[in-house]
Amino acid sequence: MTKKILKNIYFVGCEDWKVRDFHSFTTPNGVTYNSFLILDKKKVLMDTVKETFFTTFVENIKSVISLNEIDYIIINHAEPDHASSLSKLMAKCKQAKIVCTKKCHEILAGYHDISSWNFIIVNEGNVLSIGNRTLKFIPTPMVHWPDSMFTYVEEDKILFSMDAFGQHFSSSNKFDDEVDFCAIINEAKRYYANIVMLYGKLVANLLNKLSSFDIKYIIPAHGVIWKKHIKEILSSYNSWANYQVKPKILIIYDTMWQSTKKMAEAIFNGACKDNVNVKLIYARSTDITEIATEFLDATCVAFGSSTLNKQMMPQMASVLSYLKGLYPHKKYIALFGSYGWGMGAIEDMEKYLKDSSFEAIEKSIKTKWNPSKEVLSLCESLGEKLANKALTINNN
Ligand code: FEO
Repeated sequence: MTKKILKNIYFVGCEDWKVRDFHSFTTPNGVTYNSFLILDKKKVLMDTVKETFFTTFVENIKSVISLNEIDYIIINHAEPDHASSLSKLMAKCKQAKIVCTKKCHEILAGYHDISSWNFIIVNEGNVLSIGNRTLKFIPTPMVHWPDSMFTYVEEDKILFSMDAFGQHFSSSNKFDDEVDFCAIINEAKRYYANIVMLYGKLVANLLNKLSSFDIKYIIPAHGVIWKKHIKEILSSYNSWANYQVKPKILIIYDTMWQSTKKMAEAIFNGACKDNVNVKLIYARSTDITEIATEFLDATCVAFGSSTLNKQMMPQMASVLSYLKGLYPHKKYIALFGSYGWGMGAIEDMEKYLKDSSFEAIEKSIKTKWNPSKEVLSLCESLGEKLANKALTINNN
């Protein structure tokens, strides 16, 4: 689908309507690989698409201009979802120059034979005049890869923001005021939690830098264009990047014969106080992308597991590994679980979380076989403690 979005600017990207797994990120609303043509004295292609969509991508471009008219291809990020079609494209646009950062050049060389390609390597603040427009380049290392950059079009006040502010959201509508706001802000949150959370401090610095830019449109490489809701998406990013949390508690557990489940429910009962949002999450039936999204703004998390083969249950190991890797700001945590003839789950979880950014709020609770009334009462007290902690958080 080709769509004129602004004067002399066309969407030529591709919608991946049916994808439900984007390198383990679940995508119930599909994915968009955004690419745009900017027609000025020079013709510019802003990013490309995943190679799978190359044929459609070329048809989209050709419905506006011929491939040999393209002067510059701006590669804001070398990750294959945005640049894997570059080899095929460059075979057809031999005269085009690729504009990217030095790091992006290095990464492109790792994926493609770049020996015959012409590059313009740009750095912080470099500009490129394309006629009536000036493109300004803003490297954004680690948002999302070391090579990443934003491109700002001064005259139109457009920020091409690559992965930042993106949403995995397929849509024939290209602007935020043409789709359901709740759907896109929720997808933006899922995207931030699962792709960007690890780089929160860098994002916070970047947001400070952006405050000096006059921005009318934010055009990410995934999802819709922010136009009406720029204030809201910047404010959400500001909150997420500065690790702002809510009075929210997650109780995430896996269970074998319901003992750990009973403990989880007792913690839940203790934690359910006014003004506290408590979520009981059964790890084995809850998608890990969703767990990370809930985790982003939670204050406290209780992790529970039965013992299986002297270890925590495999789905809990997967959850802990994923959340630990996202390197969230300090979260207050508690561990609980059950065992039979041999212990292991709690010890395994404790060992795993030793070097994490999590802080234990209470001694772990474990039970042999079925939890007694005393154990369930301890669990309820733990829930109350978690709720009290969540209610006293201070985001400053
Ligand atoms: Fe959408 Fe980091 O790639």
